[in-house]
Amino acid sequence: MKEISSGNYSVFVGGLENGALQKLLNSKQFKDAQKLILIDENSLEYCFPKLINSVPALEKAELLEIESGEESKSIEVATQIWEALSEMEIRRDAVLINLGGGVIGDLGGFVAATYKRGIRFIHIPTTLLAMVDASVGGKVGIDLNRLKNQVGVFCEPDGVFVDNEFLRTLPKNQTLSGFAEIIKHALISDVAYWDEVKQTSLHDLHENRELITKSIELKNKIVLEDPKEKGPRKLLNFGHTIGHAVETHSMETATKSLLHGEAIAIGMICEAYLSFKLNGFPRQQLDEVVEFIKQLYAPFEFEEMAGHRLIELMRNDKKNTGPQINFTLLNEIGSAVYDQKADASDILDALNFYNGK
Ligand SMILES: NC(=O)c1ccc[n+]([C@@H]2O[C@H](COP(=O)([O-])OP(=O)(O)OC[C@H]3O[C@@H](n4cnc5c(N)ncnc54)[C@H](O)[C@@H]3O)[C@@H](O)[C@H]2O)c1
Ligand SMILES: [Zn+2]
Repeated sequence: MKEISSGNYSVFVGGLENGALQKLLNSKQFKDAQKLILIDENSLEYCFPKLINSVPALEKAELLEIESGEESKSIEVATQIWEALSEMEIRRDAVLINLGGGVIGDLGGFVAATYKRGIRFIHIPTTLLAMVDASVGGKVGIDLNRLKNQVGVFCEPDGVFVDNEFLRTLPKNQTLSGFAEIIKHALISDVAYWDEVKQTSLHDLHENRELITKSIELKNKIVLEDPKEKGPRKLLNFGHTIGHAVETHSMETATKSLLHGEAIAIGMICEAYLSFKLNGFPRQQLDEVVEFIKQLYAPFEFEEMAGHRLIELMRNDKKNTGPQINFTLLNEIGSAVYDQKADASDILDALNFYNGK
């Protein structure tokens, strides 16, 4: 069991059966609290039985089930949960346990942070993305129509419990989606970790606790330096300026839209190229990064003229002011710099680079 301290709470990485969560729930602060578990149909089927077996303190917890999928990160579903809490006469000292991926964590955290001005919550992430990214850093929120994470708050959980055994049942595309954030953590902050990441087998992640622990530690270190994203936390946006635009564009056009991490993988290739062109990132490291990402992720077919729509989407991104677009770029593998600017022609070049033109 590894305990990673993050401000006022800890992230515990290890099997749920080792008792850390049971101990917390049996402690004086939680013993008599009403306990609820937010869940979707997949975390109910694949994760809930193990949770109950390992943590008897949750046997009598109330279940709140929602449908899986990003559509549930909405004000409508949040309202349904607030109403359910209110009807069940849930008190301010209650605790909500979020068992699921990033959707459950973001939505459950947001509902908990706001119900009666805030009840306590605990994350038990069950996807790779939620383990290494969404559960760490205290951001919770919901989408507004099609605008992602438009409404939310910074609010810390009372604990995060990561058991990578849950990854056994995760579909391959979801594993790849989370793995993109692991790649990102290595590229922006740790060259030794990059060497480990390159040698990782995606089939064994449910047994590879070290790799997941390290990724959480790297994100946590950046978040602790800059919890409210005024400066260094922007490093975590590497791959995300172009990646977010690609993600949104794929929803508008593709028959099968990209998962978040699949879009970020494309964004990282393009932004590694921008790093080479504008920031002295060595050519041979660019080739190494691109080769590694391309052998993992299937190529995405952009339609003609997609570049202009992508740039429009980037310009509308709330992070930008003025005609130039803001990026985090690599100096070399393991080191990055934020608040870098690129203009439309550089970005079109980067997209052409991805498309092999
Ligand atoms: N708060 C943050 O800092 C932060 C950071 C990154 C991403 N996010 C958010 O996270 C969300 C994406 O999270 P996600 O990728 O985990 O997606 P998700 O929550 O939609 O989960 C993906 C799918 O996997 C299923 N699933 C979950 N655990 C499973 C398991 N163990 N076995 C089988 N299936 C399982 C889910 O039901 C769902 O169908 C987005 O809304 C994103 O905005 C938040
Ligand atoms: Zn991301």
